[in-house]
Amino acid sequence: MRVPTILLALFGLASATSHISERSNRDYTTHDYYALHLDPSSSPHEVALHLGLDYDGQLDFLDDHHMFKAAKHPNDVVEESIQALKHRRKVKRDLSPSPLDSIKFNQKQVQRKRLFKRGIIPRPLAGLHDRDAVVLPETTNSLLERADVIKQLGITDPIFSAQWHLFNTKEVGNDMNVTGVWLQGITGKGATVCIVDDGLDMDSLDLKPNYFAKGSYDFNDGQDEPKPKLDDDQHGTRCAGEVAAAKNDVCGVGVAYDARISGVRILSAPISDVDEAASIVYGFQENDIYSCSWGPPDDGRTMDAPGLLIKKAILKAVQEGRGGKGTIYVFAAGNGAAAGDNCNFDGYTNSIYSVTIGAIDKTDAHPYYSEKCSAQLAVTYSSGAGEAIHTTDIGTNKCTNIHGGTSAAGPLVSGVFALVLSVRPDLSWRDIQWLTALTSVPFYKQEKESEWQTTATGRKFSHQYGYGKVDAWQIVELAKTWKNVKKQAWYFSPWIHVRTAIPEGSNGLSSTFEITPDMLRVANLERVEHVTVTMNVAHTRRGDISVELHSPTGIISHLSETRRFDEAPIGYIDWTFMTVAHFGETGIGKWTIIVKDSIENKNKGTFTDWRIKLWGESIDPAVQGMLPMPTENEDKDHDVDVTTGVIGTTSVQPKPTSNIIVTTGLPTRPSIVKPTDSPNASSTDSSTGSPTSVAQTPPSESQGESAGETNGKLDEAVPSPSPTGSSFLPSVFPTFGLSKRTQIWIYGALALILIFVASLGAYFFVQRRRRLRNNPRDNYEFAMLDDQEETDGMLASTTRRGRRRRAGELYDAFAGESDEDLFSDDDAEYRDESREHLPGTGFAGKGRPVNEKDDGAQSDDDEKGGLVR
Ligand SMILES: *[C@@H]1O[C@H](CO)[C@@H](O)[C@H](O)[C@H]1NC(C)=O
Ligand SMILES: *[C@@H]1O[C@H](CO)[C@@H](O)[C@H](O)[C@H]1NC(C)=O
Repeated sequence: MRVPTILLALFGLASATSHISERSNRDYTTHDYYALHLDPSSSPHEVALHLGLDYDGQLDFLDDHHMFKAAKHPNDVVEESIQALKHRRKVKRDLSPSPLDSIKFNQKQVQRKRLFKRGIIPRPLAGLHDRDAVVLPETTNSLLERADVIKQLGITDPIFSAQWHLFNTKEVGNDMNVTGVWLQGITGKGATVCIVDDGLDMDSLDLKPNYFAKGSYDFNDGQDEPKPKLDDDQHGTRCAGEVAAAKNDVCGVGVAYDARISGVRILSAPISDVDEAASIVYGFQENDIYSCSWGPPDDGRTMDAPGLLIKKAILKAVQEGRGGKGTIYVFAAGNGAAAGDNCNFDGYTNSIYSVTIGAIDKTDAHPYYSEKCSAQLAVTYSSGAGEAIHTTDIGTNKCTNIHGGTSAAGPLVSGVFALVLSVRPDLSWRDIQWLTALTSVPFYKQEKESEWQTTATGRKFSHQYGYGKVDAWQIVELAKTWKNVKKQAWYFSPWIHVRTAIPEGSNGLSSTFEITPDMLRVANLERVEHVTVTMNVAHTRRGDISVELHSPTGIISHLSETRRFDEAPIGYIDWTFMTVAHFGETGIGKWTIIVKDSIENKNKGTFTDWRIKLWGESIDPAVQGMLPMPTENEDKDHDVDVTTGVIGTTSVQPKPTSNIIVTTGLPTRPSIVKPTDSPNASSTDSSTGSPTSVAQTPPSESQGESAGETNGKLDEAVPSPSPTGSSFLPSVFPTFGLSKRTQIWIYGALALILIFVASLGAYFFVQRRRRLRNNPRDNYEFAMLDDQEETDGMLASTTRRGRRRRAGELYDAFAGESDEDLFSDDDAEYRDESREHLPGTGFAGKGRPVNEKDDGAQSDDDEKGGLVR
């Protein structure tokens, strides 16, 4: 594939689109690579020529995405060219079209090591301990039963009797309940599982019979076979054995021992986004299930999500893979529980497109490592209580008895899904999730029954165990007669702007958005499956915050939890949390989000904004379209000016139906709703939205309080926190909870200051004009007025060195004659800084915490010091 690509480029056959094979072997030691999303009408060759790059062909897994390469250079030459063009346009008013206009997305490819295996982690010593090893005798009954299974199926695998996760003769019942499925002849035939990992030893005699070469590739070394090469490249092979080790005389058997198994090698070296994207959709028409036992570090402080190319690739596979039924992704939940980690801080496990699987040990107890989160669908067996998973190892005839962590749990469920697909290959990726939610078995070993909530499906959900442990027999039985769910539909709320300081303590700050039957009818959404919440919280210590989502029926999702090691002084920036606890709900009614800052210290924050998305089954599949590919900005809220409450030109004021309720003594701020920028505006009508913000009283109370008031006028519907809380101005102006008189005084003073600043500007403009005639050098200095001088009414033009640059910028912005300073006028930081001088602003720009620089350095050290304390 690559030779023709180069030849085409050489001979300038620009019209013939050259596709890069997915099996790309890029040499990052000699070249830089750029991934560009181009307008389909443009010519990639022309773009390459303009940028001085070599065209390297089109990505065959993403429409209109092309690769370009050049000799190595430290800079991002594409981004530089784009910035230079913007600068020319702005400053030189050079508006001539450029080939760069066709670039919708550009990313220089950097090989990074950001994904880690989720195998057995060292058992923490003090404080957080594993359960003691449990040694039970085998029971005669179960031994007889197993002997019967072995005989009927003709199993001769030497370690089958040690594979307790398949048939447990000691903790009877604590296994995957799979042998009854095999006895029906359901063994995974026809389904293919791809292990995305550090390799797969296709020469192992246990894997060879089921190895699917066509679905395999080594993205680390650019080779056809995913052969493990490094010392510690055993992980992928062990996972593969759990899924599809053959029924033969080597080691044990896989859950789906007749399924095909392929391997994609990505974890053995740093990898670029485009290669990772290619890897997890590699052969996506033939690889049905991708089993991923890895992710960003589980250290309790990382918050990382796949990049845009990877997200697009996953969506492409979910929409078009398996002949349109959708590729199935299974992810290990993560091993960071001992470090207080939560799988909602991982953008792979909290994607609606992945099935997140946690671990339990052989006693049905929670092992110290397995993370919890609202995005976790189910659990299955893995290491703990003195045992681990027995499976195939690298080598021709080698086994291991120490495979574990959530790494070992994910592949077992991938194997179960292979069994399901071998009976029902027509099931969609969402059918698989429904079946998992409806058939997993809750259990009440350690946690009290009360920690399991009864959900709208009638099934119980726990954040630690999802819908329970996966039962192979149950899920296959239900799959046999399952009626496919209708196409996916979605409802996106507008951004709900809260912009209120979060009170410390256990109550938190809540904001409610009501979804009406009408909105969901327009959105063509019949019932909810996944719910995602994208939000911005500015905070000086991210680990202090936690977030709950209360559904209209009272089901609670803990979207995030406090993390004792997470010192990041940034809060949440456009982060999307996910929950599977609301499967089966109608979605109609009040959804309340509560942000808490329950760790009382000097670190503080502000709940800026949020939006909720309901994903589920459509009412009428005939009119339902497909979700457009994600874009860079779709989950960013750009229009917020946090200081004035005034939103950019594209925004609208709240409808009279918007309620703003503030029940503490905190400043009243308007909640302004902008129209949704949803992919299909007609399907996500938000015009009747009614967001309400409540500085928290307990949610049940606040719900009752604001219920039924959505049609009242703003002033009537809002219970005033104080008798002086009325406003004489339109609602876009904050009242600060002050009396009318005080407001008049404040706004009057503000107006005077504004008039003064404007005349000052005009004055200097004229001065500059005059001065330029005499002296072209810009050596004039003057000072910005600080707050004290403003309030004192001192209008002298004091000269101070520290302020010189800022003053110069302001000056030049007025004059509009200096290229460089005009450019920096566009600079966001400059804007934010200047706004900090306005009254009523307890916080800086969106996503920027208060006093980030100062407080970050002196954040709490209390909890530092690793696992062992
Ligand atoms: C396990 O499978 C058997 C059939 O082999 C079935 O009768 C039983 O109900 C299953 N157990 C559970 C807990 O679902
Ligand atoms: C958007 O809505 C129109 C009709 O209202 C429909 O035909 C189209 O398929 C929808 N597209 C998406 C992406 O939902």
